Amino acid sequence: DWNMGSFVDQAVKAIRRQVGDKRVLCALSGGVDSSVAAVLVHKAVGDQLTCVFVNHGLLRKGEAEQVVKTFRDGFHINLVYVDASERFLNRLRGVTDPEQKRKIIGEEFIRVFEDEARKLGDIEFLVQGTLYPDVIESGTATAAVIKSHHNVGGLPEDMQFKLVEPLRDLFKDEVRVLARELNLPEDIVWRQPFPGPGLAIRIIGEVTEERLEILREADAIVHQEIKIAGLYRKVWQSFAVLPAMKSVGVMGDERTYAYTVGLRVVSSEDGMTADWVRLPYEVLDIISRRIVNEVKGVNRVVYDITSKPPSTIEWE
Ligand code: XMP
Repeated sequence: DWNMGSFVDQAVKAIRRQVGDKRVLCALSGGVDSSVAAVLVHKAVGDQLTCVFVNHGLLRKGEAEQVVKTFRDGFHINLVYVDASERFLNRLRGVTDPEQKRKIIGEEFIRVFEDEARKLGDIEFLVQGTLYPDVIESGTATAAVIKSHHNVGGLPEDMQFKLVEPLRDLFKDEVRVLARELNLPEDIVWRQPFPGPGLAIRIIGEVTEERLEILREADAIVHQEIKIAGLYRKVWQSFAVLPAMKSVGVMGDERTYAYTVGLRVVSSEDGMTADWVRLPYEVLDIISRRIVNEVKGVNRVVYDITSKPPSTIEWE
């Protein structure tokens, strides 16, 4: 019989035993795993923990503000917020290849994180939201890499930390139960997966400020309407993509030449395979109308009706 309260007590004791009076660092992504791990470690060692949250400029609408508010104001966790948007956007200029985007973002993320860790100095431990399935997959204890939602590289030799992995014995559904027990906001408890490279791999072609702004607004509408329809927790992922494609439309008595937004909503167990969701026409209709009416620069919305395989969930 699995009791969450006693899990928290035991985890807190174990973290205290491991960490002693040393300092701990955590790369917070806003996802449920790193959030729960951070709150547990904070419960155990309080101000010995510092979290670093890197805004790479590729987040969704309101995401950075929400993370800062939750952890700094809500949990009183030491949080270093780094707005590195310019750094990332500069490096992404002119880049169109999906794997190249991932590589650049992953490398830049490590670099920014490293800079912050050096500034903080004198840190012995790194928190990671590793789950049981990750442990099985990698076979042995994970190397000292930032839990790679970026799927790349590690930290340099002189920056190897000892790992604190309080979620190593848990499955995802248990982490969500734990998240509620620790009073994390519903938005974090039930958050759908979001890729480390963020909106960069949902803009087909070059990532520009203008395109990010359009995608962010369109995506926020998708998020809202899927929630209103009561589907947010039922589907695996629901989001907007922006192919770098313009087409002709007409609004009022004016001809427009503007972007198309793609809508992607899939069901899945683990992301390895996925099925496109048969959304009710009314939901499709309201999303389409709202995006075209409210997002400047968009005159067409299409729905992705391919499953995985042969498609992937993301468009890049
Ligand atoms: P695909 O597009 O491969 O996605 O069908 C499967 C799942 O993985 C997520 N995904 C990523 N997550 N970094 C991540 O952290 C990535 O580069 C990345 N690419 C895809 C995707 O959102 C889906 O849940």
